[in-house]
Amino acid sequence: MTDVKLYSGESIPLEMHKAKIIQKINLAPIEHRLEAISEAGNNTFLLRNSDVFLDMLTDSGVNAMSDHQLAAMMIADDSYAGSETFYRMESKIQELFNKQYFLPAHQGRACENLLCQVFVEPGSIVPMNYHFTTTKAHIVLNGGVVEEIFTEDALQVTSDNPFKGNMDIKKLEALIEKHGADKIPFVRLETGTNLIGGQPHSLQNLREIRKVCDQAGLMLVLDASLLADNLFFIKTREEEYKNKSIREITREISDLCDIIYFSARKLGCARGGGICTNNEEAYLKLRELVPLLEGFLTYGGMSVREMEAITVGLEETMDVDMVNQGPQFIEYMVTELQKKGVPVVTPAGGLGCHIDASAFLPHLQQTEYPSGALASALYLVSGVRGMERGTLSEQREENGEETLAHLELLRLAVPRRVFTMSHLKYAIDRIAWLYENRDLVGGLTFVEEPKILRFFFGKLDTTTDWQTKLVAKFKEDFGDSP
Ligand code: F0G
Repeated sequence: MTDVKLYSGESIPLEMHKAKIIQKINLAPIEHRLEAISEAGNNTFLLRNSDVFLDMLTDSGVNAMSDHQLAAMMIADDSYAGSETFYRMESKIQELFNKQYFLPAHQGRACENLLCQVFVEPGSIVPMNYHFTTTKAHIVLNGGVVEEIFTEDALQVTSDNPFKGNMDIKKLEALIEKHGADKIPFVRLETGTNLIGGQPHSLQNLREIRKVCDQAGLMLVLDASLLADNLFFIKTREEEYKNKSIREITREISDLCDIIYFSARKLGCARGGGICTNNEEAYLKLRELVPLLEGFLTYGGMSVREMEAITVGLEETMDVDMVNQGPQFIEYMVTELQKKGVPVVTPAGGLGCHIDASAFLPHLQQTEYPSGALASALYLVSGVRGMERGTLSEQREENGEETLAHLELLRLAVPRRVFTMSHLKYAIDRIAWLYENRDLVGGLTFVEEPKILRFFFGKLDTTTDWQTKLVAKFKEDFGDSP
């Protein structure tokens, strides 16, 4: 909670929840971690979770559920068609988002698949503040092109712009002017912009985008997967909204968008997804594909238990004590790392703490995958599993050339309500140690490289024996400590 004052004057993110169910985690010795990361081809996606101490890979599907969510799972109505569970979820969506039509889907990328199959065709151009990996892949798969129209400092690692996720309105107008509205199936705004460090957009920006869309007769689609964080940032960073409730802000956002889709692995703290709209024509087109690709219209590939948990999770997202937890933990981590000189993305965003791998490892070329190397090195020295978000997450050009990422980041996700302060302190300490020993970290090179979404399954080798040297230095400084 933001307004609890401590006598010491210290500012700490105080949790407004307590642990009732816990999971034991293990911190394996560094020798074991070296074996594990080598077997995983230096790809943190390929690590076994039992070899991981703090799983900061993602906030997707791993947020802690509440007692109410777990209780709701027990009343799930298991029927193929017409499940009461669906009607409860639909009515919660209608209530919070003021959208009449709801289509369930098994997760966020399934919503993207449906939307792109229906609306994107060869030659389509889809403007957006910034892409997400699966979004771009679906647009490209359907013959479309992504046009990113972010504001100038979106890609500056350090900035004091509170809304780095905003769309550049002038660029949006120019893009529509250049290509014509006919070529644009929809404009996509990603709330809590994932790949640039969980950075929010403002409500004012959304209102301006709406205006441009209205003038051009374009649909506005919101990817609301990271809505919880963005709601908190609007309330705390946009003066006009500081006295508005999270529910009111949600409603205002929703009323400005034609279609909203979300990954409920993030929004709603369970596992699933869905699309909602008041546009009947769009709904009917999308609806045709749901039974074919996802499942019948009253479950869409989700387990009914998860649907019950999402329904409760969405309601809990309207509580400021819930949506503030992630961003405040992340801010703590960012601030402490900054004090130790570690280069991090600022202002602190949602989703996780993002380390600037280019500045951390300036001696590496982007073609040596600095973010991937940093992810591998951090796991090795701490058992903390982060995610590469840089060139390795891009796709090679047709001619075999690398697509160099705008940013080289190591993302350390802070799943909601999962970690404690001492976990964060441990991670911060090991990151700071690695920063002092950064010269020892070398690059990576592919040994197995899939063509699509290579970061998921690709395997890499180290370019030198730098990991052996890093382990030796670790032993020197930490002795037998794991
Ligand atoms: N949109 C955004 C903004 C996302 O962050 C994600 C997932 C998706 C769509 C796709 O949703 O995973 O349910 O299919 N992000 C995860 C992550 C994978 O780790 O950031 P999904």
